This record gives sequence, C-alpha cells and structure tokens, in this order.
Amino acid sequence: MELHNDAVIYMDNNATTRIAPEVLETMMPFLADYYGNPSSMHTFGGQVGHALAKARDQVANLIGAEPEEITFTSCGTESDSTAILSALQTYPEKRHIVTTRVEHPAVKNLCENLDRLTGHKHRVTRLKVDADGMLDLGEYEEALTDDTAIVSVMWANNETGVIFPVAEMAKMAKERGILFHTDAVQAVGKVPINLKDLEVDFLSLSGHKLHAPKGVGVLYVRRGTMFVPFLTGGHQEKGRRGGTENVASIIALGKACDLAAERMDDENTRVRALRDKLEEGLLAAVPRSMRNGHQTERLPNTSNISFEFVEGEAILLHMNRYNICASSGSACTSGSLEPSHVLRAMGVPFTAAHGSIRFSLSSYNTEAEIDFVLAKMPGIIESLRQMSPFWKGN
Ligand SMILES: Cc1ncc(COP(=O)(O)O)c(C=O)c1O
Repeated sequence: MELHNDAVIYMDNNATTRIAPEVLETMMPFLADYYGNPSSMHTFGGQVGHALAKARDQVANLIGAEPEEITFTSCGTESDSTAILSALQTYPEKRHIVTTRVEHPAVKNLCENLDRLTGHKHRVTRLKVDADGMLDLGEYEEALTDDTAIVSVMWANNETGVIFPVAEMAKMAKERGILFHTDAVQAVGKVPINLKDLEVDFLSLSGHKLHAPKGVGVLYVRRGTMFVPFLTGGHQEKGRRGGTENVASIIALGKACDLAAERMDDENTRVRALRDKLEEGLLAAVPRSMRNGHQTERLPNTSNISFEFVEGEAILLHMNRYNICASSGSACTSGSLEPSHVLRAMGVPFTAAHGSIRFSLSSYNTEAEIDFVLAKMPGIIESLRQMSPFWKGN
C-alpha cells in the first residue's frame, strides 16, 4: 500500500497527534543504541533506568504530581481500567460506581462489563448532561452513597471538548470518603493541571494525544491511595505494573510533557483564536449549522459543529478530497449510522447529530489552513444538501 502525507491539513488531534520532531529525536537513540533493560544490573541497562527516571520527573512536573505517583502503562484505556478495577478490589463490599453518560468507551464499556469482569453485581449511576454537555452537581451530590466505591468522571470530553468541574467534584467525593478517578486523556497538555491543589486519587493520560507515540500512557495514583495492580508480573514500576517498560516511548512522553508545558500559552491563546476563527466562520457561512458543547467551558483546541440534513461521513469523504482530516460524531456500525452517545446524551436532534464534525487543532495548525477550510466547507455542505431529500433550503 502506498502511504502519503502530502500537504495534509490535520485537524483531528483529539484522535491522535503527530509525534513532535523534538520528541522523535529524543526517543530514537533508545530504539537504536541504548536498548538495555532498565532493570538490568549492568551499566548499559542502568543508564536506561536513569533516562526513565528523568521521564517520570517530566511527566510529574506537567501535572503537579510527585514522581513516585506516576506509573507508566500502555495507553489511556489501560490506565482507566486499572484505576476503576483497583478501587473495586480495594473496597469489595462497595458495589456502586458514579460516572457520566458521555465518557469515552474506555470507561463507558468497562462500566457496562463490570459484573462479568469482577464476578460481582454492580450498580452504575451515569450522570446526565444538559444541552451544553454540562453536568448537574446537585444530581451528582445525590448520587454519592456509602456504597459508592469510586467516581470516574472525565476531565474533558473527547468529542465536544467540554470541561467538567473536576476540582469541585473530587472535593465532594473526598468529603464522603469516596475514591475519585479522572480520565484526563484529552486535557493533559491542553489545559493547566496541578494535582497538588486537587483531591483526585487517580488520573489517566495517554502519550499519543500530546505529540508522543501511541502505546504509552500514565496512571497517576495519589500517594497513600490503596492500589491493586491490574497487570501483575515482574517488579517493574515498583510492582504497580508488571511488564518490561516501553522505554523509548516513555522517554518520548517525558520530552512531550516538557514541550506541552512550553506550549501551554500558545495552546490557550493562538490555537484558541484559530479554533474560534474556524468556528465563527463556519457558523456564519453555513445556514442551519450549530456548535455542540458549552461555548467557554471547553478545551481550547476543539470545535464540534453540526450541519443539519447531511451525513457526517459524507462530509468527511468530501473533506478528504482536499486532504482535510477531521472526525464525525457518527460511526458506521452494522450498516446503520448511529449518532454518537455524547451528542445523544446532550439531546442534539437526530438531523443535527448525524451531521456533526469534530475539528481538533494543535499548535502545528496555521491561519492559512483555517482560511483554506473556511473556503472549502460551505461548498461541501451545500453540494451535499442539494442531494438530500430532506433539505428544503434554509
Ligand atoms: C477521553 C479519552 N479517554 C481514553 C482514551 C483512550 O486512550 P488510548 O487510545 O491511549 O487507549 C481516549 C482516546 O481517544 C480518550 O479520548
């Protein structure tokens, strides 16, 4: 198969990001030359151990944690599973979990399968969201009970970018003696996080969402929090996660965390301004289009827009002709186009949920790319609407 990346306009950074050139440069020697096992007694392996320790410091620095609170995993999904299953094993008598209706499948599908995985019956409360994708803290407070083992609430939504009030929610859980996990896979590197100021027990992050490679993640476990490993085996990660470390990717993640800290201002100013220009331009130019998700309580890089009476997948195919990469809120499953569970939870009408497109930017995007997309999108939507039996003009 021929591969190409000619002049691609990449606006799908919530799906995955390019590896930053500086990150690639930092990791390469650990693939080519320094291939020793960090657990080995010889100097050749030991030096790799020192490099791992540096990466642990770099990750800890980005999120305001201590290095010993960082456990490297294979991905965000593993970190999510580990946190939730650890809490259930720590408190086997507690059979209740509180989460939301808009979690990533890494948490959503785990919660749907808990009875099978643990051999126990569990009760899961899935908090509702409003039309802006926001939670009701009154409903949350009522959901917390003496039987609740853990709360798992994402920091920021992968489809809409909506940010939840994690600080307040973690505090409320702590007051009830309940463990709190946040899936911060989409938030880390995009918004400042300081775990020293928060009552969070577990936090998940993933390398490939912040310009490090795929296949590396982190689970933060607050010092003093009871922890039961998911993968048992060797003594790696102080016995918290067996398996020889994915050394080069971990070192890459460390460097990516340093870069993310340096670029945090750019992300929250220039990238945010580009996102706003794209969003405002599209909403003004395309009739019957709307933003999905709260206007301000949102990641700076994400814009989810519905174009009524067109199919998201058809839009993506047309965008693809111009090498513009984004995502749609509907997935083609078993022949039927199912709108996303996130948009359905927000009550977005079917005609709009089907035509939703998520643009997710990064600091590599330029104003020229935004202008190009703004020039092409109205024509794409108009041509598709002309083919739609439901479109009767605006
Ligand atoms: C919010 C969220 N959680 C978890 C994951 C899963 O991360 P990974 O791909 O590293 O398993 C993703 C990936 O899209 C995500 O967006």
